[in-house]
Amino acid sequence: MHITKLCVNGFKNLKNIEIYPHPSLNIFCGDNAQGKTNLIEAVWLCSGVKSFRKTKDKGMIDINGDTMSIELHFKNKQREQIVTYNMAKPNVREKNCKLNGVKLKSPSKLFGNFDCVVFTPEDLELSKGSPEVRREFLDLSVSQIKISYAEVAEKYDQLIEQRNMLLKNIALGKSQKDELEVWDIQLARMGAYISLLRYNYAKKLNSLASALYDEISGGAEKLELKYYSTVFNRLEGRQDYKNDLSSEYLACLENNRQEDIKAGFTQKGVHRDDLTAFINGLSARGFASQGQHRSVALVMKLAQAYILAEETGDAPCILLDDVLSELDPSRQEFVVSKIDGMQVFITCCDDSVPFEGRRGKLYKIKNGRIIS
Ligand SMILES: Nc1ncnc2c1ncn2[C@@H]1O[C@H](COP(=O)(O)OP(=O)(O)O)[C@@H](O)[C@H]1O
Ligand SMILES: [Mg+2]
Repeated sequence: MHITKLCVNGFKNLKNIEIYPHPSLNIFCGDNAQGKTNLIEAVWLCSGVKSFRKTKDKGMIDINGDTMSIELHFKNKQREQIVTYNMAKPNVREKNCKLNGVKLKSPSKLFGNFDCVVFTPEDLELSKGSPEVRREFLDLSVSQIKISYAEVAEKYDQLIEQRNMLLKNIALGKSQKDELEVWDIQLARMGAYISLLRYNYAKKLNSLASALYDEISGGAEKLELKYYSTVFNRLEGRQDYKNDLSSEYLACLENNRQEDIKAGFTQKGVHRDDLTAFINGLSARGFASQGQHRSVALVMKLAQAYILAEETGDAPCILLDDVLSELDPSRQEFVVSKIDGMQVFITCCDDSVPFEGRRGKLYKIKNGRIIS
């Protein structure tokens, strides 16, 4: 899929942007703090996901203005579609999003229409950072191909918060232990579903990412990505989340109730799981070098893009924010060759990026405006 038209106004420092991107390559070049990442973020929001920069609602509108608007036209295999995203002060929590002119209940309903994969320098955290970063990555990736997953994952998080509150109240003698039952039954069912989907996704991710890692390391190193469950010993080959897996999940919660009451929070469950990366058998998080972390993150993101393309039948739009300049020439070549055929938006400080022979457009960005 590719973006055919993009208009942005009043999103952070961006002003009166109206562009007709090239179906292949688009380079956005400018000095620091001119609005390059803001532009990538505006495109990203149209996929229905919260900001990858974790921008607060208030921060999305130009501090000197009152409204912001994003209009993105994209073409997939079937047809051309339009996403609009508008906000106005003072009701910054209220986001007016439309798909093809039809108002949506919330931005998350945009999910599953315009797909993109964003690469940023912070992706390093996928390899280096805490399990939470990888859970977020998994949840987002699974949601992109299975829209109903996002709602379950969100509901699960709410329930865990409520269960944790109850645990504290039980410890204080304000609530009864048997009140846990209703929460645990619901959590078990959702947790089993989340475990299974994440596990299956991680398996696919592993097969693609490890092949890519073979290439990027010139066959010298082996990458393995494994889903680590705090609840299940074995998820391989299991399907029946409604009965089998739910009962096992419930038993796990029940067995841990006493410990959980003592701790004041739920210690086992998908909110504590991880996606562990191993390089030549050693945990990447513990042992990898900076360069290895970078390679792990890159192949995870590329694999995410490939899965998305395979599952939806349409390649996502690739957003590379300040990424290439951090890579050595051979890794740059590698990334560029792997996203061939997809529409790419890439930001950089100078226009010497390795895209020789590829057709595209070069935009200069200054003070939130496209100047050429
Ligand atoms: N809500 C906002 N209103 C106006 N300007 C903003 C807002 N949020 C961020 N900015 C400005 O955006 C600029 C940073 O944009 P960014 O896209 O990160 O730059 P870069 O080109 O380096 O990627 C800064 O000048 C910052 O002051
Ligand atoms: Mg930037």
